[in-house]
Amino acid sequence: MMRCMYLAGLLMIGQLQAEPLSQQQLEAEATKRMQSFAGELQSTLMNAIQAGGLEAGVEVCSAQAPEIAKKYSKDGWQLSRTSLKTRNPSNRADAMEKDALMGFVDKMAQGHQLTSLSFTSYNVETQQFVLIKPIGTQAVCLSCHGNAIDPKLHDKIKLLYPEDTATGFSLGDLRGAFVVRYQGVAEQ
Ligand code: HEC
Repeated sequence: MMRCMYLAGLLMIGQLQAEPLSQQQLEAEATKRMQSFAGELQSTLMNAIQAGGLEAGVEVCSAQAPEIAKKYSKDGWQLSRTSLKTRNPSNRADAMEKDALMGFVDKMAQGHQLTSLSFTSYNVETQQFVLIKPIGTQAVCLSCHGNAIDPKLHDKIKLLYPEDTATGFSLGDLRGAFVVRYQGVAEQ
């Protein structure tokens, strides 16, 4: 009897996995993945700055940020960051991301709180899903993305990122966004 129930349980799990995920399930999973990604990025950056100062922060950020994104991009999910003003050109916004970012700028101009904003896109047939959440500019970000970057640090940034446009931000500005994509059933 016990064995029978165990088997029934296994079969049910099998079935559940084959079921398409609902938009709510995708949104919940995307949010969870985004929070882990954001948490690891932030702690890696803060640890590097504490251990070796801002210049070490730049080095660690440039080496680790793409690696951390890669680490969380599996099982059909893809995580990245983008902005209307990027430091790394490979983070440049595509058409959908640009629309989302410009939507956030409009909403913020209308007085909406950045933390209340998000953009989602879901294709019922292919199950392709995208969640885009704005990233604000905090005080700690200004040393590398603000108006008065230390000249030595700025030289280092320009050396690593000759196409850098991610400066001149002020506290509370929209710095960019996290992008979480689920590639859906078609390509898996
Ligand atoms: C020590 C310097 C430093 C600090 C402090 C810093 N960043 Fe960055 N930031 C970088 C570097 C370097 C990159 C490029 C990383 C890469 O190659 O993907 C970057 C890239 C980004 C990107 C990806 C889009 C782009 O411009 O390429 C976002 C978004 C971002 N930073 C937001 C922030 C936020 C928000 C904070 C504050 C919480 C912050 N950064 C603090 C150095 C820094």
